[in-house]
Amino acid sequence: MRLRAEEHAAEAHEHEETAQDTHCVSFKESGKSVQVASGMTLHAAAASAGLTIPKACGMGICGTCRVRVLEGETEMNHNGGITEEEIDEGYVLTCCTKAKSDVSLEY
Ligand code: FES
Repeated sequence: MRLRAEEHAAEAHEHEETAQDTHCVSFKESGKSVQVASGMTLHAAAASAGLTIPKACGMGICGTCRVRVLEGETEMNHNGGITEEEIDEGYVLTCCTKAKSDVSLEY
């Protein structure tokens, strides 16, 4: 009986790790979604879902790849290509933003 409980605990733990390592990124207007590794940018996630978000600098400077996050946690490392107001409105620069949870984007 005890062994079973331990096995269950081990399985649950494995499951947790998997859940942390990948996130579901969904695109509301396109009706697509994709499961991605947590280190992947939202722009790369879109590409793997077959979507092309316009992109120019790829470094968080120009603002071309800006998309609004509807739900979920993200982490952005931009280089000035977005204003505080835009961030307050929920926008991120997809070329330099990663999902920290399952996220839903407006795109
Ligand atoms: S492509 Fe320039 S900020 Fe993302």
